Amino acid sequence: MIIDTHAHYDDEQFDIDREEILNSMKDNGIELIVNIGADMQTSEQTLELTNQYPFVYGAVGVHPNSTMELDDTKMERLKELARMPKIVAIGEIGLDYYWDEPDPDTQRKWFDRQMELAREVKLPIVIHSRDAAKDTVDMMKAAHAGDISGVIHCFSYPVEMAREFLNMGFYLGIGGVVTFKNAKKLKEVVEYAPIESIVLETDCPYLAPEPNRGKRNSSLYLPSVVEEVARIKGMDTDQIIEITRQNAMRLYRL
Ligand code: NI
Repeated sequence: MIIDTHAHYDDEQFDIDREEILNSMKDNGIELIVNIGADMQTSEQTLELTNQYPFVYGAVGVHPNSTMELDDTKMERLKELARMPKIVAIGEIGLDYYWDEPDPDTQRKWFDRQMELAREVKLPIVIHSRDAAKDTVDMMKAAHAGDISGVIHCFSYPVEMAREFLNMGFYLGIGGVVTFKNAKKLKEVVEYAPIESIVLETDCPYLAPEPNRGKRNSSLYLPSVVEEVARIKGMDTDQIIEITRQNAMRLYRL
């Protein structure tokens, strides 16, 4: 069965049918979902979801574009959340220079602090990196992120960058974008990366795969991603599902 390594079921787009859609997962081949916090509020909501659903695990952390809300008190709360039994990672954390709020120095400060937190609580990290490849790699190397381990979620960089992250032992999160016709660069990355380093993700409600592009995404659309990865790799869909499942279990130590 399929593991969705990155979802946002706390999002208000699921307010109308959250319970119904989550309760339909098992019957549709989705075994386990990791819900990812993006700020303090959604990290708290992630904890609630992990308490409500046996197959939902969670990551807590603050997305680079929300780091202006962080201070020492909130870092302490993140540490408490990180110690809950079903919280399996710190994330999503990282750098996003596509949006210029907050300034890069602030983003870098809290990326570093949250990597330190992951090291302290001994959890892997879920990295969000957009238009910031070089700084992300440099900061990860400086923090010896290879010992922390984790995933580069919604991987969007070319093959040369994929090599850098793979060399640090990181997984690459692959989702709906790989099914887009114009996603040439990402298809090359999937071809290049060993299947043992790829995990499946939705980033739902965003980034629904073809043929549902533009709709609200959910883990139920992951079979479209599986099919495209299988096509690129020249493997069976069953193999892709089983290998990426094992990868996700190793990534989050489930
Ligand atoms: Ni996300």
